[in-house]
Amino acid sequence: MSAADPRREWDERAGVRTCPRRRLGDELDAGQLFFPPALVPYGDHPRVRALPAPHRRALFARHLYHYLDFTTQFETRVVNRVTERIAGGRSGLDVRTATRLDAYRIYVDEGYHSLCSLDVIDQLSRASGIAPAPYDFAPFLARLDAVGEGALPDAGRLAQLLQVVVFETLITAILNDVPKDPRVLTLVRDTVRDHARDEGRHHVFFAGLFREVWGQQPAALRGRIARCLPGLIRSSLLPDLRPVRASLAAAGLGPADVAAVVADSYPADRVDQGIRTASRHAVRLFEETGVLDVPGGREAFSTAELLR
Ligand SMILES: [Fe+2]
Ligand SMILES: [Fe+2]
Repeated sequence: MSAADPRREWDERAGVRTCPRRRLGDELDAGQLFFPPALVPYGDHPRVRALPAPHRRALFARHLYHYLDFTTQFETRVVNRVTERIAGGRSGLDVRTATRLDAYRIYVDEGYHSLCSLDVIDQLSRASGIAPAPYDFAPFLARLDAVGEGALPDAGRLAQLLQVVVFETLITAILNDVPKDPRVLTLVRDTVRDHARDEGRHHVFFAGLFREVWGQQPAALRGRIARCLPGLIRSSLLPDLRPVRASLAAAGLGPADVAAVVADSYPADRVDQGIRTASRHAVRLFEETGVLDVPGGREAFSTAELLR
C-alpha cells in the first residue's frame, strides 16, 4: 500500500477514525465567540450594533446554528443521496470497485459530519440557553433540485451528481477561516477544522469523478451540462435569507429594520464576489476539463458572474 493509497489515507486521517468527540468545556463563561464576526455579514450593521449585547450574542449563536443545521441536512440529504448510489453500484456510471469503496468512505464521513454538527448545536444550546430556531431545509433543496430538473429533465441522476461535484469542490470562507480565529470557541474551531480536512479528500475524489463522467458524455449532453453548472453553483452559494430575517426579528428588530439590515448587508455585488471566491476551484476544474469550451459554456459562466 503506497503513501497515497486512499484506504490508508482514510484510515489514518478521516475525522471519524482519528478525532475525539469535541466537547465544549467552560469557554462560554470566558466570553469566547460563537462565530468570527467578519463572517456574519450583518454583524457590524449599525442597527445590529445598537442591540443589547446579549441579543447580539444570540444573533451570532443562531448564525452558527444555522450553518451547522444546514450542514447536518446537506450532508445526508444531498451529498449522501449521490454517494450511496455510487457506492452501491447504482449510479448509472461505469465505476471501479475502488471508486465504490471511496464513495462508501465519503458516505461515512458525511454522516459523521451531520452527527458532529448536530452535537455542537446541542451542546451549545444547552450550555448557553440560546435555543436554535427551527430550520426548514426543504425550500433550499427544492431550489437546488429545480436547477438540475430544469436543465437536465431526462437525466435526473446526473443532475444530482453534478450538484454534489459542485458543492464538494467549493471552498467556503467558513471552512477556511473559522479554525484560524482564536476568539472563537475551541469546540467550534475544532469541529470546522476536522470537517475541512475531510472535505479536502472529498474535493480530490469528486474532481477526479467529474473528469471521468465528463469524458463519458456525448457532445449534445455536454452542452446542456455546461449550461447547467453555473446555476448549480449559484444556487448552492446564494445566501439563504429566511433564517437571517427570522433571527434578526428574534433579536428584537422590527420589520423595517430587518429589511434595511438585510438590504445593506447582502448587496448583489458583494454576494456575487463571495460566490466567485468560493467557486474559483470548481470553475478552474470546469475550465481544465473543457466545460467552458463547448457552445454556450463560457457565456453561461460569464452571465452567472462566475468569471472575472
Ligand atoms: Fe462534509
Ligand atoms: Fe464532503
